[in-house]
Amino acid sequence: WWRPENLIDSLVSELRERVKEGRVLVAVSGGVDSTVTAVLLQRAVGDRLLAVLVDHGFFREGEVEETVRILKSAGIEPLVIDAREEFFEAVRGVSDPEEKRKRIGEMFARIFQRIVKENPDIRYLAQGTLYPDVIESGAAPGADRIKSHHNVGGLPSWLGLEVIEPLREFYKDEVRRLALALGLPHELAFRHPFPGPGLAVRIIGEVTREKLEIVRKASRIVEDELRRAGLYERVWQAFAVVGDDRWVGVKGDRREEGHIVIVRIVESDDGMTADWTRVPYEVLDRISRRITAEVPGVTMVAYAVTTKPPATIEPQ
Ligand code: XMP
Repeated sequence: WWRPENLIDSLVSELRERVKEGRVLVAVSGGVDSTVTAVLLQRAVGDRLLAVLVDHGFFREGEVEETVRILKSAGIEPLVIDAREEFFEAVRGVSDPEEKRKRIGEMFARIFQRIVKENPDIRYLAQGTLYPDVIESGAAPGADRIKSHHNVGGLPSWLGLEVIEPLREFYKDEVRRLALALGLPHELAFRHPFPGPGLAVRIIGEVTREKLEIVRKASRIVEDELRRAGLYERVWQAFAVVGDDRWVGVKGDRREEGHIVIVRIVESDDGMTADWTRVPYEVLDRISRRITAEVPGVTMVAYAVTTKPPATIEPQ
């Protein structure tokens, strides 16, 4: 395997070579891919990098603050754009998964267009696209399109920017090693992947404020309990999903209908295939008890036991 230090040097000098003049826009999300992309560019072009964090409102509890903190510690001061209301409006009433992704992608494009208009010296757009993203979005020759990952080719060419994807030949485990070699914190390097459209694709059916609150809180509980059990870094992803189905519950002596939360915990090497994790029953029990006790409006917790394929990892 390659030595990370040598690889970093060559990636940085390639980027420096490529970005002759003008500035580079990079959208950071707090994930390892976009953070590594931003740090590589920062080393290559310094303050000609403009890092933007678009807060679409579909992040987990406390996530935006955490991301800003990590980026700052890596010497990157991101411009945070609060677009929570705009995104919520954009997906209001939409339940079709691809339509939801499309609307979110368009909203990102509109925001980037605005930024580019205000900063005419921006020439490039850097993205943390990985090799599996290239394949799954059908960008590789002969590949079928499974889901429109918004971060691959989703931004329209009329933005007029040259796209730079320094990680498009790498797999996730390689990017994690790069992150460590770049001196990024361990917790960042081993963070689970998180989809570009965020929790919006973990809400089946229409995105409502109630369902958004449920996934935000339930996701936090799933991650906390896995960390407590020492399992967080052994799994690929662990999250909560909510839809519109209801289950009758009892509260005291009252009958009350509530939402069903589906917990999905999977193992995978690269996201292309996945197996559900045989989590100890006690851990599932704690997750279930905490979600029904701490998240208002939930009466049932179910565990997803289907591999990929035939299911995908995310519900949408
Ligand atoms: P699926 O659900 O297709 O997901 O089995 C495979 C992996 O990709 C992640 N994923 C995304 N990542 N933008 C991303 O950056 C997206 O739009 C997106 N959709 C899915 C997913 O979390 C899983 O790890």
